[in-house]
Amino acid sequence: MEDSSVVRHFDGVAEVYDQVLPFFGAFAEAAMPFVVHAPGAKALDLAAGRGAFTERLLARGCEVTAVDGAPRMIEFLRKDQSRADSYVMDATRLDFAADTFDLVVCGFAIHIIPDPCSALAEAVRVVKPGGLLALTVPGRADGTPDPWHDPLVELYAEYRRFHPDGHGRHGNDVEESALFAQSEVIDVSATTLEVALPVPDGETYWRWSRSHGSGRFIDGLPDDKRDEMHARLLDRVNEIPHFTLRRSATLWTGRKPE
Ligand SMILES: C[S@@+](CC[C@H](N)C(=O)[O-])C[C@H]1O[C@@H](n2cnc3c(N)ncnc32)[C@H](O)[C@@H]1O
Repeated sequence: MEDSSVVRHFDGVAEVYDQVLPFFGAFAEAAMPFVVHAPGAKALDLAAGRGAFTERLLARGCEVTAVDGAPRMIEFLRKDQSRADSYVMDATRLDFAADTFDLVVCGFAIHIIPDPCSALAEAVRVVKPGGLLALTVPGRADGTPDPWHDPLVELYAEYRRFHPDGHGRHGNDVEESALFAQSEVIDVSATTLEVALPVPDGETYWRWSRSHGSGRFIDGLPDDKRDEMHARLLDRVNEIPHFTLRRSATLWTGRKPE
């Protein structure tokens, strides 16, 4: 694995990742009707994290192999999803033979992997001819912003200017449509998925915001601005009765030609 600040960040948050609110699990669940395969299908969960997809594919009878660059993610995945084969592995250099899997899934990672072209090329190489590729990324398929009022999203926009690098987020800025257009993948389609998760209080929402990729944004703020953002988030969430976290993602699917 090449030195990657993205992987190092996720290794650091592995203990709390998807444990505060089951956000990534909810999206993997929402994707299932589009990716489910016959029991016994061989699936690869690429950049698997703690196994949001792995868990659901195992429950549907797939034989799952999970890989992630972050050793701590794989440590937790191994404990929780012991029926999966799991490896610390770079998504851009997979140690699997060509045409191995019926299905390759990759949740919320292709947009942050520094070299997404190589990751997609590797996914295509290891899936069987006719096999399915399924990738989720944040945001709606038509590119419109989420229609819901979300105090955290508003605060991210407001505090961006205090971030030393001007944005404070992971991301490779490669459009998935362009990525697929350059690949041999066929039958490409993009579907909007939505999840809604009740948030008990502002402090839970703050802890959630630090438990995944956005933690980089918050950790990177100057101390006084982080404290201010924290206090303002608590105020705003606590004044919304029954606040629910609502977000969209795009599920990209396609097939390797026969
Ligand atoms: C937002 S998490 C998504 C995890 C999981 N797929 C999910 O849906 O919960 C992104 C994951 O990509 C992994 N990752 C980033 N770059 C990687 C690379 N080059 N090779 C393997 N894993 C990588 C990180 O370690 C992290 O676990």
